[in-house]
Amino acid sequence: MGVYETLFRFAEVTHKYMGDPGTHPWAQGFPLTTQLPGGPPLPESIAINATDRMYPKADGQPPLREAIADYYRHFYGARISADNVAVFAGGRPGIFAVLAFLLEDWQVAIEETEYTPYWDVLKLLRRNHVLIPSNPGNQFRPTLDDHPREARTLLIRSNPCNPTGVTLRGPELEQMVAHYSAPERGALFDEAYEFFTEQAPDSALRYIRDIDETNVFVSGAATKGLQVPGMRIGWIVASKKHVELFRNYSSLAMGGVSRASQLYVTELLERTRVAQARKAVAEFYTSQRKRYGEGLRGLGLELFSGTGGFYHWARLPKGLTGDAFNERLMKHDAAILPGRLCDMARRGDRGPLGSMMRFSFGPLPAESFERDLAILKQCL
Ligand SMILES: Cc1ncc(COP(=O)(O)O)c(C=O)c1O
Repeated sequence: MGVYETLFRFAEVTHKYMGDPGTHPWAQGFPLTTQLPGGPPLPESIAINATDRMYPKADGQPPLREAIADYYRHFYGARISADNVAVFAGGRPGIFAVLAFLLEDWQVAIEETEYTPYWDVLKLLRRNHVLIPSNPGNQFRPTLDDHPREARTLLIRSNPCNPTGVTLRGPELEQMVAHYSAPERGALFDEAYEFFTEQAPDSALRYIRDIDETNVFVSGAATKGLQVPGMRIGWIVASKKHVELFRNYSSLAMGGVSRASQLYVTELLERTRVAQARKAVAEFYTSQRKRYGEGLRGLGLELFSGTGGFYHWARLPKGLTGDAFNERLMKHDAAILPGRLCDMARRGDRGPLGSMMRFSFGPLPAESFERDLAILKQCL
């Protein structure tokens, strides 16, 4: 059940919903939904006409698909067209569809420490999977040498990684893309946190020569970088053949995606606006990552965080588990995500992630820092 386990426990103990005013939602993965310093304003309204009230197209409205393709062509030189894009109701439905349509004799390769819902989806769909070591022993930084070599393997990797923040970019990402672009291999690069990096953002799409010849899927969403989780817009970029499958899936199971949301997000992707958003997100969250990093280290936590995302990935002192820490934090209307929920083998508190925690600074305004540190200090 992942993060919902923590949310339900929080509601039970505090009688509040995490994220309500006055709570400290360090377990949650949403960004600020207000204008960032130096960032573009977020539109307050959109105009809807009679056509917009009609059913949407199964694979997404053409202007949004074109805006997404244009975005990747402009920022990464991607060799794709709107026909390589399928629109979904957020990032997760696209990820679910990729794993649901995987042929039965393929296996999934996944890092041992990953985004909690991947585990649930693999379990629900009964997907055969192999773990790539990602634990304190290798500092949560596996290399391609740690990956399985068998044919018919699909990698799934969040990049930047949720929860670790470890980010594949440049030659390392290029090598990974080349490996998984080969016949009988495939990969899903989940780039939900693309904008949230200390160095310039990178995308697997920069390194794909001809996506139509691969089984590589790149997933993106308006959820984090564009700051609109409530709009529920995500997308998958893939070969035209795979996009056709998604179109069929949408027409039989999803019914397309809200036209109003698609109109809103098309506006957010306007080139100069999105360039400004990328810069503002990177600057604001890099400064938050540094401040909270220093603060957490000062409290005696051992940090393993990479340079991307909006989380710190830390080991609690003296074998304290994430759940035990949460019981203390909840007295202050605060909670973190216990590390065990990012364990893709779900080995519980006795597993390698038992005393790890994911601390989210995604929803935190700059002003909450002192108060946050005071609560953490008291509970440690
Ligand atoms: C790694 C990762 N991928 C995808 C998503 C997609 O989120 P959503 O389905 O809310 O768009 C998230 C959100 O938490 C995420 O952390």
